[in-house]
Amino acid sequence: DHPTRRDFLFVATGAAAAVGGVATLWPFISQMNPDASTIAAGAPIEVDLSPIAEGQDIKVFWRGKPIYISHRTKKQIEEARAVNVASLPDPQSDEARVKSGHDQWLVVIGICTHLGCIPIAHEGNYDGFFCPCHGSQYDSSGRIRQGPAPANLAVPPYQFVSDTKIQIG
Ligand code: FES
Repeated sequence: DHPTRRDFLFVATGAAAAVGGVATLWPFISQMNPDASTIAAGAPIEVDLSPIAEGQDIKVFWRGKPIYISHRTKKQIEEARAVNVASLPDPQSDEARVKSGHDQWLVVIGICTHLGCIPIAHEGNYDGFFCPCHGSQYDSSGRIRQGPAPANLAVPPYQFVSDTKIQIG
């Protein structure tokens, strides 16, 4: 049983239409996304937060730096807010480190403030980040709690462009 000539024409027309669709979409996409060299030079990047489940972290790169984005659990937020701020090595409230109305999202530069190693998410005693190089422990707000690092993980410049999207830089 062979396809008739009519079937073939139908298939061929469908394929041509699909190719045309891709071709018109492409200039739009390339205009929306700065290319790799522009990003490396410091262009802002947009990150869609919707795929990140509660309790998960993702790592993206901005200006060549690793950026951790944590979708914090209620427990992590409560822990970060229960601490006596004055007792911290680098006193900063959790509220000051996140965007108001978006408490579940922590965005930090993933570079240890001791000697620049990359801490590991979801490790250590404070439900935050652990630096394997010399044992610095950061909490679920990215604040230094224990170990040789002198300062909290830095928060990069960013803003919410929608409820589920941020722009870093
Ligand atoms: Fe992280 Fe030393 S570089 S503890």
